[in-house]
Amino acid sequence: MENISGFEVNYHKETQRIYEIKIEDQILEKLLFSFNKFDLTALELKPFSRFTIAKSLDEVAESRLGKLLNNILHDRETGCFTISPKNMSMKLDDSFFVKFSTAIAHLIGNPNHDAMTGKYYARFQVKHEDNSDSYLRKAYKNMDLHTDGTYVNEITDWLLMSKLEEKNAEGGETALLHLDDWEYCDELSKDPVAHEKLIWGSPKSKNINYKVEHAVFSKDKNGKPQISYIDQFPEPKNMSQGNFLQRLSDCLEESKNKVVTKLPVGSSIVANNHFWLHGRKPFKENRSLLRELLRIRGAFN
Ligand SMILES: [Fe+2]
Repeated sequence: MENISGFEVNYHKETQRIYEIKIEDQILEKLLFSFNKFDLTALELKPFSRFTIAKSLDEVAESRLGKLLNNILHDRETGCFTISPKNMSMKLDDSFFVKFSTAIAHLIGNPNHDAMTGKYYARFQVKHEDNSDSYLRKAYKNMDLHTDGTYVNEITDWLLMSKLEEKNAEGGETALLHLDDWEYCDELSKDPVAHEKLIWGSPKSKNINYKVEHAVFSKDKNGKPQISYIDQFPEPKNMSQGNFLQRLSDCLEESKNKVVTKLPVGSSIVANNHFWLHGRKPFKENRSLLRELLRIRGAFN
């Protein structure tokens, strides 16, 4: 992996599938200065300004960061990285991280409209209290392994998740699984039902008023399996589809090859959404639990 001055690039301590990128203070100082020219309203209302902020991030990285991030995400062997400040004590607020995440996302591609919030990104909180209609905010339930964008028309090649805040959180680790590490990949991706077109809907909070049809498994240009799956949204129409989805769900959760990792506040994780699945472990009950995340999903350029 090539070196960019001010950026430390290593493998995740548990797996060589994930890169860990740490940004040194001198780069963060430059970013703080150049991000000051942008305000969030402009980023939300003027789409071109999001590419401008991405360019300013690339420029503090010898104009080589975009290439590095794209190489990682397109490489089937890895396809995932985390990126965070090396020194967490530096004063960086949530608006810095919204700008930073925006810049990263636009070095990779173009974000999809997030119908849950009506913006190109979504900020949302996970708390003790919840009466929502999906697993996203159910703190004490396991959020099973899944990919994003299963119920929308847009292509979802990648997803970015940034942790903006966390208080009184025990548990809630991120679980990740690379399709090529999954013990049951061959068996399930070759099942005839894996290639049947299923119907995918979504609950009210997602603000999507249509349903889509697609198979759970498809193949990439090299013939390797790709997955588009989440447990809550497919609508099986017969016993064989229902049984296939149950087996798929059981085999994913049973996998011994998941990477379970804790993301510090201020860090972002970006993954190729075609061959990485992600989920969340349950939190330990705490009335003052608070986590705030930002997500952006989109297509490659
Ligand atoms: Fe997700």
